[in-house]
Amino acid sequence: MGAVQDSGVGPRLNSRIEKFRDLSPADRLTAVGDAARLAQADRDALRGGVLPLDLANGMIENVVGTFEIPLGVATNFTINGRDYLIPMAVEEPSVVAAASYMARIARGCGGFETSSTAPIMRAQVQILGLSDPHGARARLLSARDQIIAAANEKDQVLIGLGGGCREIEVQVFEDTAVGPMVVLHLLVDVRDAMGANTVNTMAEAVAPMIERISGGTVRLRILSNLADLRLARARVRLTPKALATKEFTGERMAAGIVEACSLAIVDPYRAATHNKGIMNGIDPVVVATGNDWRAIEAGAHAWAARSGRYTSLSRWEIDAAGNLMGTLEMPMALGMVGGATKTHPAARAALKLLGVTSAQELAEVTVAVGLAQNMAALRALATEGIQRGHMALHARNIAIVAGASGADIDTVARELAADHDVRVDRAREILLRLGKEKA
Ligand code: MEV
Repeated sequence: MGAVQDSGVGPRLNSRIEKFRDLSPADRLTAVGDAARLAQADRDALRGGVLPLDLANGMIENVVGTFEIPLGVATNFTINGRDYLIPMAVEEPSVVAAASYMARIARGCGGFETSSTAPIMRAQVQILGLSDPHGARARLLSARDQIIAAANEKDQVLIGLGGGCREIEVQVFEDTAVGPMVVLHLLVDVRDAMGANTVNTMAEAVAPMIERISGGTVRLRILSNLADLRLARARVRLTPKALATKEFTGERMAAGIVEACSLAIVDPYRAATHNKGIMNGIDPVVVATGNDWRAIEAGAHAWAARSGRYTSLSRWEIDAAGNLMGTLEMPMALGMVGGATKTHPAARAALKLLGVTSAQELAEVTVAVGLAQNMAALRALATEGIQRGHMALHARNIAIVAGASGADIDTVARELAADHDVRVDRAREILLRLGKEKA
């Protein structure tokens, strides 16, 4: 069992909302708002258009406006025996539908199980100008307690919350373009923060002491986005019966998914796309909750290449009983305090919709969504291909591009998908015909 706890928000919500996709956006918002018992202000925030210009102006520089992308909610997720509604901010069609569909299949098999490490982030302090790098390393390691104490002096709030600098590591790079180099790592438990500010402040604070002890010159003082001590894991076990479709047996489906994953394990060209499919699930949750998706992307891909060869983030196997077993373990440096997670009204509301009570729980849920998304892509790729499902949903976009609005969007999209001819000029023809029929 991972870090998931009861949020204490009353009766647990049911993430299975019948015919959710057939509702209007307003009715969907009511359905998820009621399920998660959201206050009106949070429902309004999820509806969008809620980032005031003065707030946006305070968040970044040279602000001229705000930029919106769709916010969907993936249904059906059961994680560690508890249901979750998943907010996903994303521009790509079929992502939210695929996550919900896979979560539904997984739900019938007991859902996802997750776990995670403590939220340990790493700051790096680069030390140059040393003629005895190994001696400097030894001096720094001897001063471990002193360095940790100095780092912890900087953040009493974090210490009060049970976090703080826990350990140091010191590495020697004998041969770099600028001579020998020593790099000291501060390993910091950042609790519910993403942690960048916390560890950067600590790294800067200990720098003078590091110079005194090592005898070198400190240059870089910055966190590492390869958050390999802050891992979240998800797993799912699917029976052949749950995987079977009208066209494919569950055994065929499971074997196809394992074969697809096998290519991603050995071939970086496929691994990049395979992992992109995983990030299709992860990034939208990261964005919706106001977190730093560039940090998550950087950590994910560096982790995927940690052996020296870029590979699949997930693994799919057949267990001894013939079930399909999927696992995903990866860095997940997400926060729930500070930054846009607190300032952006929609991010705050998204966190309430999720009902998570710790950054670790958020990380675990997010990785489960990534695994669901990966399964959706592999399931389609291993059987009918992704274009059939994808084009049916993409057709809505094309209908809008062609000028359709209101109920015409679905009418045009249905016709495009049925004809397997999803093109803007074809959509215009259909619209013209519909116009004439109405006239
Ligand atoms: C498309 O956004 C993602 C996929 O290419 C992922 C994959 O190939 O596994 C479908």
